[in-house]
Amino acid sequence: MCGIIGYLGPREATPILLEALKRLEYRGYDSAGLAVLETGQQTTSLTKSEAKVDLLIEKLWGQAPSGHLGIGHTRWATHGKPTTVNAHPHADCTGRITVVHNGIIENFAELKAELSAAGHEFLSDTDTEVVPHLIEQYYRGDFLAAVRQALQRLRGAYALAMFCLDDPDLLVGARLNAPLVVGLGEGENFIASDITAIIPYTKRALILGEGELAAVTALGAQVSTLDGRPVEAKIVHVDWDVSQAEKGGFAHFMLKEIHETPDAVANTLRGRLDEAGNVHFAEFDVPSERFRTCRQVLLLGMGTSLHAALAGEQLIEDWAGLPARAIDASEFRYRRPTVTEDDLAVVITQSGETADTLVGLNLARARGALSVAVTNVVGSSAARDADGAIYLNSGPEISVASTKTFIAHVVSQALLALRLAGGRGRLPIERRQELASSLRALPEQIRRLLQSEPDIARLAHRYAHYRNFMYVGRGLGHVVALEGALKLKEISYIHAEGSSGGEAKHGPIALLDPLFPVVAICTESSTREKMISNVHEFVTRDAPVLAVVSEGEAELQGLATDVLVIPRADELTSAVLASVALQVFAYYVALELGKDVDHPRNLAKSVTVE
Ligand code: AGP
Repeated sequence: MCGIIGYLGPREATPILLEALKRLEYRGYDSAGLAVLETGQQTTSLTKSEAKVDLLIEKLWGQAPSGHLGIGHTRWATHGKPTTVNAHPHADCTGRITVVHNGIIENFAELKAELSAAGHEFLSDTDTEVVPHLIEQYYRGDFLAAVRQALQRLRGAYALAMFCLDDPDLLVGARLNAPLVVGLGEGENFIASDITAIIPYTKRALILGEGELAAVTALGAQVSTLDGRPVEAKIVHVDWDVSQAEKGGFAHFMLKEIHETPDAVANTLRGRLDEAGNVHFAEFDVPSERFRTCRQVLLLGMGTSLHAALAGEQLIEDWAGLPARAIDASEFRYRRPTVTEDDLAVVITQSGETADTLVGLNLARARGALSVAVTNVVGSSAARDADGAIYLNSGPEISVASTKTFIAHVVSQALLALRLAGGRGRLPIERRQELASSLRALPEQIRRLLQSEPDIARLAHRYAHYRNFMYVGRGLGHVVALEGALKLKEISYIHAEGSSGGEAKHGPIALLDPLFPVVAICTESSTREKMISNVHEFVTRDAPVLAVVSEGEAELQGLATDVLVIPRADELTSAVLASVALQVFAYYVALELGKDVDHPRNLAKSVTVE
């Protein structure tokens, strides 16, 4: 989720671009850069920094390029480490065409091979760099025509801002599966990844639709489809201040990030899963042979990431038929674990910097295990230390409470389980296809679920006064229960514990009374009947029961005190949907209690000490 800005108008572009980039840093700050067409000099000045925008400002101190057309970028790395060469903007061989990009070009490898064969020279490891070279390939003096031709060959997700030295009065933007807006000023115009960047300059914005392109001059913008059909663009008036804009108009980052989950999931899946259920990980390209001899999979993590590991444990055992163990990394490091060269160690960490997880990773590596880091941060310590990496590509998560990245982690575990199953010749093809199509349908299903946000908020209002909660589930529902309880306690400070349905009557059930509600995960699964029996037991103990159920569920209506309904789906999808629903529930409980949702007390986003 990178930040993009473009400017064209009578003012000096550099200070405007830098100021906008500072405001966009919440979208990522691995590296930054800008390109300005220097007035009168017929050159484009390109400046990049391998760190935050402040370093870029320092680099430009006293030597800022002078010009009225420019583009800038602050990077959240996906393809290629956060280094100066990988920082945007990227240019073609001649230096005439300059591009900044947010998103992932899925077919970049094949395009790069084709362009290299045609003589193009690549400097970076990014997917983005194929874009200026592809435009160069088609360029015959008409920049817009070349852009149209080039973009029709891209697959994946892009929000792009670009210009060409030969066209000093034209700034071009385009989008597919990633947002882009055009800010309409007085005699000047902007292109940006979001409204935050342009808010001090204009309140009028034109929101580009999927597959649309904007040809922007200082006086206006023309929107069209890639094949050149004009589009009547919608202009909106934005009343947000900068802080509201950063949160996309949501009251908190947590809620904004919950709403980003469909895109986060789509980005985790992007370019990795084919229709037959085959999975390919670019940065963890291990021959299938290695998985055939694998003895066990160790999944290490902490907190929410440990819960994702628990989901991975079940999926890997079930689909790949491999023994798998999810382990609290802080415990693992002090044990004398049985790890051998035939094992696969999977470390699950959003930040890639959690101290206990990193020690666990290095312990497993020291004993010879093959290792892979599943992380959201390219170039993080975990990604550097492990033999391979599986990036979530979810964009920065700012709220301390993990939401979209938990779901992306669970999806990445499903992909890993499918990869292992494929490598070991497990799962019939029909089952793999079925799983692939249900994973692909997930973003849409989550969008559907989020339409019931007002209903979930009403339930939260009804339950916010309780001081204790028990979350109960079985199978993947048990993982949902553990994570649901963690979400509630960390942001609302209400005591909540998670239990398996079977374990409940071995102790936890003693806690129940009319002031101790149970959140029971009773969605689609092979153990749903067992969960219904559990609900009977809880009701008998006079505990209020909030049952999470699939659409059309009749048995629990009238038995449970309340029901939280999610779309009907298979077991994995249901677990994902129930998790998202309980994140929304926790959010509204904390809101009801007036808690500081994004900054819960005593917690930090990344725990880099033991
Ligand atoms: C939960 O919402 C927290 N953010 C926390 O439990 C987190 O998952 C844990 O600290 C591990 O962090 P990591 O994924 O960055 O390693």
